Amino acid sequence: MIRDQEKNGRDDELAVSSFSLTSPVGVHPVEVLEREHKLHEQICDSLERIADSLPDEVDRSLCATMVVALRFDLPLHHRDEEEGLFPLLRARATKEDGVTGMLGQLSREHSIDESSADELVDFLQALSKGRRADNPNMFGYMLRGFFESYRRHIQWENKVILPMSRRLLTDEDLASLTRLMIKNRMRANSNRHQR
Ligand SMILES: [Fe+2]
Ligand SMILES: [Fe+2]
Repeated sequence: MIRDQEKNGRDDELAVSSFSLTSPVGVHPVEVLEREHKLHEQICDSLERIADSLPDEVDRSLCATMVVALRFDLPLHHRDEEEGLFPLLRARATKEDGVTGMLGQLSREHSIDESSADELVDFLQALSKGRRADNPNMFGYMLRGFFESYRRHIQWENKVILPMSRRLLTDEDLASLTRLMIKNRMRANSNRHQR
């Protein structure tokens, strides 16, 4: 998918979103989140490639693709977790599962990562239009800080949160999570087309 986006992504208007890949219709919702984590690992790899290519070898179309990924795909996934998965887990988990602290920490990370992503988007957008980074060392440092912490976030969710979700959520919970994910995608797609 990232490769297709690279081909198409001459600027962020043309770049293809991954929403179609993560349609929750007919798929177990935890499986959707798992697939998205794989996509996010690819996003981290792409950001690492950009960091490695500074200042003179930057792939402009990859930067445009990353603008879309950071602006739309990550926040969408965070909404699914925060509005859907996390409240359901809180309702089903017992004290022994110890989810309250964990989910609070993951939510804080979502908020920090979205703020960092907003800053990265401004730089990536400029690079996608052919501008050279004013301070490549600083931008490389910001990129590395972002993808390193985001990889840890994904690993933690894959290792702890998703297995716990498969274990604790009822069929009714899963159906309500699917409905929320569909609603979030419809809202995200309509917001995206209004921009
Ligand atoms: Fe998350
Ligand atoms: Fe996640």
